[in-house]
Amino acid sequence: MTITERIHQLAVQLTHANASEQSVFHNVPLAPPDAILNLNTLSKADPYPTKINVGVGAYRDEDGKPWVLPVVKKAESVIVNDASLDHEYLPIDGLRKFTDASAKLILGKTSPAIVENRFAGIQTISGSGAVRLGADFLNRFRKATVYVSNPTWGNHHDIFRDAGLPVQTYPYWDPDVRGLAFQAMIDEIQEAPKGSIFVLHPCAHNPTGVDPTADQWRQIADAIRHGEHFPFFDCAYQGFASGDLDRDAAAVRYFVEQGFELLVAQSYSKNMGLYGERTGCLTVVTKTPELALNVRSQMCKLSRASISNPPAFGARIVSMVLNDEQLFTEWKGQLKVMADRIIHMREVLFETLTELKTPGTWNHIVDQIGMFTFTGLNAAQVKVLRDKHHIYMTDNGRISMAGLNSGNIRIFAEAVDDVVRHV
Ligand SMILES: Cc1ncc(COP(=O)(O)O)c(C=O)c1O
Repeated sequence: MTITERIHQLAVQLTHANASEQSVFHNVPLAPPDAILNLNTLSKADPYPTKINVGVGAYRDEDGKPWVLPVVKKAESVIVNDASLDHEYLPIDGLRKFTDASAKLILGKTSPAIVENRFAGIQTISGSGAVRLGADFLNRFRKATVYVSNPTWGNHHDIFRDAGLPVQTYPYWDPDVRGLAFQAMIDEIQEAPKGSIFVLHPCAHNPTGVDPTADQWRQIADAIRHGEHFPFFDCAYQGFASGDLDRDAAAVRYFVEQGFELLVAQSYSKNMGLYGERTGCLTVVTKTPELALNVRSQMCKLSRASISNPPAFGARIVSMVLNDEQLFTEWKGQLKVMADRIIHMREVLFETLTELKTPGTWNHIVDQIGMFTFTGLNAAQVKVLRDKHHIYMTDNGRISMAGLNSGNIRIFAEAVDDVVRHV
């Protein structure tokens, strides 16, 4: 650089420094990038031919490509060719055919809450928006400390904190057994201040892939009842865990049968592949139909003040699929294709690590359920996987099984074998 160029550079820096000092934004620091979305950016920018992205929780097919479900394509083409549809606003609480069908999907058609009409569903900006609306509602009408699992989906902390609620954690993952820290979880529920809010993942726990058994759910429900706590289910993977929509909803249905009032957030991002369409629902179960009406009206007020009214396209697709017997059957088949492929990848990964005699035990890969495996790899190993092997995963060692396929799973297993032996 010549002296003239250097002087020019310094002058520009000085001008920027002065301008920043005068700016109303001078005290706004640069926020750190979102850990998971940042992995995507890094992976996209990596030209390495056999790079692997197991960071983001989005389904990929055997070719590593996003999959638009055929049933979704079918519904889309009906919608775009339907001359009676327009782009008018939806009601504040969304498309009623969609929210009613969503409530039935999670609670079951014969649920006492459905039969007695003591529920209300509000359409939301996918699962995240449902959790946020629930958090805003609780902050206004039943403020208490929110307990989330340790670990949990990172956004839980931010959403509840930003809604104004104090956030604590309850034990969930026991690294020694690579499974549920069940007794510690129950102890924490029992020790929490009466009336706390407990956020529960009904199936396919993110990030651990470890779910309580039916018997453990019964004990969790007992402890929650005993503490007069409020259960808030966040269901982002119905059908993804077992491939069976009813089985994956069993925990929520059990709580409703036991007479609990509760909130449940639903997302159609994963199970219908509608990630970017932001299609979700928040359902409340109350003691009486009148209370459900009241809660709906207040949720409408909150939603009106944040998004005004929800987007129509995704809700129309889901509503069509859920309310048409033939399309619903097709969806269940396609959901099972995704769940089964993930289960198969678990088996292949386990077999390959066993064949490679990779040090350690790997049974948890086949024991865990849903989209994610909590591998047990540590942050240093994750870093070497990224820097040396071009494999992208979150620092806590969580991998999305959907990022693996028969073309890349051996490369992945050999890389894991390398870091386990040498890092
Ligand atoms: C536990 C949990 N809740 C909610 C969500 C929300 O997802 P979305 O807003 O895309 O529906 C996710 C997505 O990863 C999740 O894992």
